[in-house]
Amino acid sequence: MLNHTDFDLQCTDLVRQFDDFTAVDQVSFAIPKGSFFSILGPSGCGKTTLLRMLAGFDDPTSGDIFIKGKSMIGVAPNKRPVNMVFQHLALFPNMNVSENIAYGLHRQGINKVEIKHKVEQVLARVNLSGSGEKKIAQLSGGQKQRIAIARCLVLNPDVLLLDEPLGALDLKLREHMKVELKKLQQEFETTFVYITHDQSEALVMSDQVAVMNHGQFQQVGDPQQLYFQPDNAFVAGFVGDSNKWSAKVMDILSDSLQVKTVSGLVLQVQKPETKTFIIGSEVEVFIRPEAIHISPMLESKVESTQLQTNQLHTNQLHTKVNNILFDGANSQLLVEEQTSSEEIKVKLPQTAEFMHLKKGDKLQISFPMQQVNVFPKIQDK
Ligand SMILES: Nc1ncnc2c1ncn2[C@@H]1O[C@H](COP(=O)(O)OP(=O)(O)OP(=O)(O)O)[C@@H](O)[C@H]1O
Ligand SMILES: [Mg+2]
Repeated sequence: MLNHTDFDLQCTDLVRQFDDFTAVDQVSFAIPKGSFFSILGPSGCGKTTLLRMLAGFDDPTSGDIFIKGKSMIGVAPNKRPVNMVFQHLALFPNMNVSENIAYGLHRQGINKVEIKHKVEQVLARVNLSGSGEKKIAQLSGGQKQRIAIARCLVLNPDVLLLDEPLGALDLKLREHMKVELKKLQQEFETTFVYITHDQSEALVMSDQVAVMNHGQFQQVGDPQQLYFQPDNAFVAGFVGDSNKWSAKVMDILSDSLQVKTVSGLVLQVQKPETKTFIIGSEVEVFIRPEAIHISPMLESKVESTQLQTNQLHTNQLHTKVNNILFDGANSQLLVEEQTSSEEIKVKLPQTAEFMHLKKGDKLQISFPMQQVNVFPKIQDK
């Protein structure tokens, strides 16, 4: 049995109700020391409400929060060993960089010599040595972000809470800061709880990700688990890109199901061990664009090696190219399956082999049944 003290942060059956609306619904999780934990979910799913309870700005309706094994119920925000970085940074514009970072240390009554030393140390660690005298208005967006984080880290919290801290930055800078933040977390070995609706941020930075929807955690796992072994249709649809179809179970075999989509596309899918299906039941099926193998020029000679690969692929479909969506390394084809007219997104590798593909070309696509995820249909709330 794991002890509360094995974790920097642990929540048990946390609930926050606003009148008859439940914003956070029976959430339980435990975060090991020094890890990067993200909470990923769509707008309105309850992320900020959860984080505010961790910080102490709001009280749970029921449930408990433990930091380093101590219950935080009734403990004021400034008495908790946590700090929070907000989406809008709230740096003090009338103070310079050093004064901003020193602010919390002054409030703790630390002496001036030590403060100076700590401020210099943290500036060096966020790669901004020598910027102490700068005004906040003289910094770029990414530099401001690093100062906002330095200001919290200098207080040496057990847990740093970050509410969409990259939301205000442009795309390029966000990409860059993702990597910087992960490095910072590893260097400081402080536990980060990071909330975002951006799956790429969560996947790139985190040791563990909780996918949240309607106030509940849908699945907690490392990025690869969420990507390759989603527990339910919400996670499969929310994390990564997929072809998603509503379908009906047509036949049940020993290790597979045969399903038919609404447009009539018939697929073999691996039968999940943990779920039971009946013939006629409604399901949702997911296949990732990059899991689909393409073989050009169906009608001309097909290489024997391709035939061999394809024999392992239980699903072999004859399609024609409807559209080429060129986007560098993220390029995709939209192909149409010939008998059902179902449209399928397929990743288009930027290799010489496929350079001459054009709209209208015939294409055989194939994928093994293990690559298709199938879930009972979720009834909309
Ligand atoms: N003080 C409040 N009173 C009533 N309802 C609230 C209150 N605070 C939040 N809610 C509701 O709780 C739900 C979750 O809100 P929350 O701010 O936690 O979402 P979020 O996941 O952070 O969304 P976003 O990604 O848009 O920031 C929303 O439906 C919101 O309207
Ligand atoms: Mg929010």
